[in-house]
Amino acid sequence: MSFEVADTLDMSTPDAKRASYRLLAAQVRAVLEGERDWLANLAQFSALVYQSVPHLNWAGFYMARGEELVVGPFQGKVACVRIPFARGVCGACARTREIQRVEDVHAFPGHIACDSASNSELVLPVLAGDRLVAVFDLDSPLVARFDAEDARGFAEAVAVLADGTDWP
Ligand code: SME
Repeated sequence: MSFEVADTLDMSTPDAKRASYRLLAAQVRAVLEGERDWLANLAQFSALVYQSVPHLNWAGFYMARGEELVVGPFQGKVACVRIPFARGVCGACARTREIQRVEDVHAFPGHIACDSASNSELVLPVLAGDRLVAVFDLDSPLVARFDAEDARGFAEAVAVLADGTDWP
C-alpha cells in the first residue's frame, strides 16, 4: 500500500492544532487499515508521528513486560532498553495508567535522560481492554512542548491504534 503522509502538521495556533490532530487520527486509521499485527502497527505509528508532528526528538513504545518496560518500535536516537515501573516518566505512566505530561523533565524526580537534548515529555498508556500493553513516549527538545490539546490529540491517535491492533 502506498500512502501520502503530511510531512509537518501545522500546530502554530490552537485551531490549527485541533485540525492537525483530527488529521493525525485519520492518517493513523489509513496507515493501519487492513493490518492488525502489533509489531507492524507500532512501527508504522511511530514513523507516522515522528514524520508528521513537529518538534520531537523521540517517539516510540515501551512494551509492558511484567513490572518492567522494554523498548519497542521507535524513531529517534538509541534509547534506554529496560525501565522498571518504579522509575522515570514512562514508569509513572505504566504504574498509574495515566497520561504523564512533563513540561520540564529536569524538574521531574527520577526522570531517565536517554538523550540530553530532551526537555519535555508526554507519555500515554496503551490499553487493550483493561490490560496495559505498552506506553507511547514522546520527547521534545522544547520546554513545555506538550499542552492539554497535545495530550488529547495523542490519546485519540493511541486509541485508534489500540483498537486496530491484535496484541500478543
Ligand atoms: N525519559 C524517559 C525514558 C525513555 S526516553 O525518554 C526514550 C523516562 O524518564 O521514563
